[in-house]
Amino acid sequence: MTELEFSEKYTIDHAQAYYEKHRTGVRRRLSNYLENRMVARALNVAGPVDTILDLPCGTGRFWETLLEQRPKKLIAGDLSQSMLDVAMQHRPEALLDQVECYEMSAFDTGLTDDSVDLVLCMRLMHHLESRGDRLAILGELARISRRYVVVSLWVYGSYQAWRRTRLEKRRPERKYRNRCILASNVFEREARNSGLNVKARLDLLPGISMWRTYLLELTP
Ligand SMILES: C[S@@+](CC[C@H](N)C(=O)[O-])C[C@H]1O[C@@H](n2cnc3c(N)ncnc32)[C@H](O)[C@@H]1O
Repeated sequence: MTELEFSEKYTIDHAQAYYEKHRTGVRRRLSNYLENRMVARALNVAGPVDTILDLPCGTGRFWETLLEQRPKKLIAGDLSQSMLDVAMQHRPEALLDQVECYEMSAFDTGLTDDSVDLVLCMRLMHHLESRGDRLAILGELARISRRYVVVSLWVYGSYQAWRRTRLEKRRPERKYRNRCILASNVFEREARNSGLNVKARLDLLPGISMWRTYLLELTP
């Protein structure tokens, strides 16, 4: 199975640090809040859905927001069992009763065609520098979803993207970059090639942040 170099870093220590990172400091807490709001906005545009897959779910940052939509089923998947363990460790039983957790790869989820209404894929795409990897994952998410795929990534066109590009230019050339910014037209073409149309573009902080969340809808 294709796996990515960056995927190996999600050990138990990293998972615990990831969980704490998003709860510490004003800047992190604000971005966590804004990202959750962005997810809620995408779900509102999509309308009611019965089954949601959160992949990769990491330490479950979006579970409370997703459950507010009252789906009949919430499935959470991640390649790292450590991330899943930390996610579960920090949640009350009552919440865990509403989430099914599985170790799974976004390249090959093992789910059947059309098995969920909406897939949420936050903070994975910006780790994929290779077009082939992005198409493979978009294709897999489009295959298992009946209707929507929500994806976040870094796009050009903001102060943060300009600053990051300038920083990258100063860094020595590296064989492998584990994060990248995409031109929105490039990503949108890749989504269309995977059978997904853009229904909404939601920017975390327009003009300032490079985080954008797309609500993509399967082509009828
Ligand atoms: C930056 S974290 C994002 C987690 C979560 N979506 C969030 O926003 O908090 C990236 C996650 O991707 C997971 N991951 C890496 N490669 C993966 C793959 N091929 N399939 C599924 N999950 C993967 C990692 O284990 C990690 O939990």
